[in-house]
Amino acid sequence: MNAMSDLLHLRGVRAGYGATVVLEDIAFALPERSSLAVLGRNGVGKTTLLGTIMGHTTLHGGAIEYRGKEVSQLPVYERSRLGMGFVPQGRWIFPSLTVEENLTVAGRPGPWTLERVYDLFPGLAERRTHMGNQISGGEQQMLAIGRALMGNPALLLMDEPLEGLAPIIVDAILGVLQRLIREESLTVVLVEQSARLALEVTERVMVLNRGCIVFSGPSAELLADPARLANLIVV
Ligand SMILES: Nc1ncnc2c1ncn2[C@@H]1O[C@H](COP(=O)(O)OP(=O)(O)OP(=O)(O)O)[C@@H](O)[C@H]1O
Ligand SMILES: [Mg+2]
Repeated sequence: MNAMSDLLHLRGVRAGYGATVVLEDIAFALPERSSLAVLGRNGVGKTTLLGTIMGHTTLHGGAIEYRGKEVSQLPVYERSRLGMGFVPQGRWIFPSLTVEENLTVAGRPGPWTLERVYDLFPGLAERRTHMGNQISGGEQQMLAIGRALMGNPALLLMDEPLEGLAPIIVDAILGVLQRLIREESLTVVLVEQSARLALEVTERVMVLNRGCIVFSGPSAELLADPARLANLIVV
């Protein structure tokens, strides 16, 4: 892989919270317009990995390069400005802002506009004047994704966007994810508990266990080998 075509490159990353180290020796590269599933059971460090890329954790060692530039000393807002978008676990919608305000508050110029987000999620357009806490869980998740898109990111980090949603909403959001991965010039990192769903929409997969990468390869490879997948995740 040509290093110049990598959007994100982590080398020997150790990170955690204060003195606590959660991630050990994390190294991987994400080419432009690629998609990566991050799997692993509860507490292995998936959220910590996304948080470390964004700048929410304590970095103990290693390097984080974004478009060939070392960003590990930059604050979160600088990384956002450079094109990193984050859909946090648990959505974090502003309850006292309307749907539309939730979207526009994080807006940056670029191809993603209110119109395009409403086009992607017509349900949000119908609820544009509702408050953030007066919409369903599925709508909140769509709003969280829409808000990240309004920041016009090149890299979209998503932490369990399907968590706790009804199957019909899961299907709708998966459809949108597939569209974002295939048709837009986005690089997507998808943290997900439902391994099968994540593997179906991504090109590559990384499995974490106790803060370490225990598998890295094509998603199709693990999808075709359920026994190995179960082994990797249940350990
Ligand atoms: N703010 C924090 N301060 C200290 N330790 C934390 C903090 N957040 C998470 N941890 C610890 O870091 C480890 C990894 O947690 P993390 O949230 O990254 O796991 P995860 O893989 O996202 O789990 P889940 O699937 O439950 O979301 C756990 O041992 C957790 O207790
Ligand atoms: Mg998590």
